[in-house]
Amino acid sequence: MKPYEKLLIENKQWAKERVELDKDYFLRLSKLQAPEFLWIGCSDSRVPANEITNTAPGEIFVHRNVANLVVHTDLNLLTVLQYAVEVLKVQHVIVCGHYGCGGIKAAMGNQNFGLINKWLRNIKDTYYYNRAELNAITNLDERADRLTELSVKDQVMNLAHTSIIQQTWKTENRPTLHGWVYSLEDGILKDIEKIVPNSPMDPIYQYKV
Ligand code: CO
Repeated sequence: MKPYEKLLIENKQWAKERVELDKDYFLRLSKLQAPEFLWIGCSDSRVPANEITNTAPGEIFVHRNVANLVVHTDLNLLTVLQYAVEVLKVQHVIVCGHYGCGGIKAAMGNQNFGLINKWLRNIKDTYYYNRAELNAITNLDERADRLTELSVKDQVMNLAHTSIIQQTWKTENRPTLHGWVYSLEDGILKDIEKIVPNSPMDPIYQYKV
């Protein structure tokens, strides 16, 4: 058996078990999705949103990219954000980073990765604006961990700076924005940032909504 064939066989087994536990499982989910959360996480295979939060299909709307970035020109992310906020009406948007992130480590170095440079450049900018604090941390793993936290905070603020979020804050007083960091070593999520609806921000980022 080829490795990918195992996935298809496991899928049949999984579907069978779901129906054995709850015969209407797929019927119900096929009719409706009403998730309360949008998750913006890293593509890293070790940080699966549903498993680490012990949630089921239907509970979390998910977007993942390398190093969980919120980039204001990323059409893919903005489409997911607008749909989740305006159509699904999620109550919470969670940006989840993780310690030991390869994207963060790559952004801290000077290797030329070609196209990938352009994506990681967003993390380099976070480093630059926090260079005094980061350069003072001599252990490189600890420095990367701190950059992970600072980047997550920046991404949460980037969400607040979108007109999508500001519009919904004003009209519906949601969603709350959260920044979390996951530890690969013990499986625990650390809550490091929360921005409630209509929090103050620098006027340059405020839209007339
Ligand atoms: Co990562």
